[in-house]
Amino acid sequence: MKVAVLGGAGGIGQPLSLLLKNSLPAGSELALYDVMPVVAGVGVDLSHIPTAVKVTGYTKDDLAAALTGADVVVIPAGVPRKPGMTRDDLFNINAGIIRSLMEAAATACPKACFAIITNPVNSTVPIAAETLKKAGVYDPKKLFGVTTLDVIRSQTFVAALKGLDPATTAVTVVGGHSGNTILPLLSQVKGVTFTQEELGRLTPRIQDAGTEVVEAKAGGGSATLSMAEAATRFTLALVAALGGTESVQCTYVQVEGQPAAFFALPVRLGKDGVQEIVGYGTLSAYEQQLCDAMAPTLRANIQKGVEFVANG
Ligand SMILES: NC(=O)c1ccc[n+]([C@@H]2O[C@H](COP(=O)([O-])OP(=O)(O)OC[C@H]3O[C@@H](n4cnc5c(N)ncnc54)[C@H](O)[C@@H]3O)[C@@H](O)[C@H]2O)c1
Repeated sequence: MKVAVLGGAGGIGQPLSLLLKNSLPAGSELALYDVMPVVAGVGVDLSHIPTAVKVTGYTKDDLAAALTGADVVVIPAGVPRKPGMTRDDLFNINAGIIRSLMEAAATACPKACFAIITNPVNSTVPIAAETLKKAGVYDPKKLFGVTTLDVIRSQTFVAALKGLDPATTAVTVVGGHSGNTILPLLSQVKGVTFTQEELGRLTPRIQDAGTEVVEAKAGGGSATLSMAEAATRFTLALVAALGGTESVQCTYVQVEGQPAAFFALPVRLGKDGVQEIVGYGTLSAYEQQLCDAMAPTLRANIQKGVEFVANG
């Protein structure tokens, strides 16, 4: 397996690459690309760790070399939030970055699986889809928005509230990846129940957890270490699935019959990417109300991405 990390020198890219260097299957290749030349050094630095994963850093005009032969392309390239910003405020800069990286990928590795981390994920994934469509190589089974951080935050917060082991507390999170489009299905957590008062505190905390980090870092960026862990979990699940070991993960993919054309939900990953949309059962009345309320925002975020590529 070859995994390419685009934005490999960044706050997410570096710890993500470290975690992948230590956990990809032996014999894998890890290609780091960044516009910052320091990425070459990040590659050399990681290459001294004694695992059987070959790491190479690429910069500037070497994007095609980084991408060629990639099975999985993970993209955390782009600017993060500062205090007071929403993820949508990043659109103007990050939309162009995703489009240009996906144009290169459409030529260099059109059959790869793409995992988009760059915010606003609600819009950057549709941008990636439209860019691949324009190049005639779009496969909806192979394009994913990484929403795993919403899942692991939910696990952590639910376990803390209910005195559970966070490692084994499973929480399904559906919808999108910003503000009220993040919908944790707390009614489905096994073995516990929540009062309405708990739901009214915990649900917005999960939705705004990214802002907790942005404010605590006070201008120094957004979540990087927990995001690197989340992206590692998703990437390893994808790599395992491509190799024949299926698993179910919540991720933002193109869907039919859902409140929006892209929607995060449990998906079975298999050797061709999306094997099956597993779905998420029945929502509680409270969750249904939140889902109805966020759907127009999510649809508008998607439309904004589609129009960006159409008008570009
Ligand atoms: N999906 C999620 O849950 C989630 C969580 C946290 C952050 N994010 C997003 O991830 C992105 C990255 O965050 P970060 O903290 O790592 O930011 P960062 O600024 O630390 O790193 C971004 C890296 O991308 C590089 N870059 C910029 N343009 C590029 C291009 N055209 N090609 C290759 N590399 C390029 C930069 O040089 C930098 O090294 C942001 O958009 C942030 O909002 C997503």
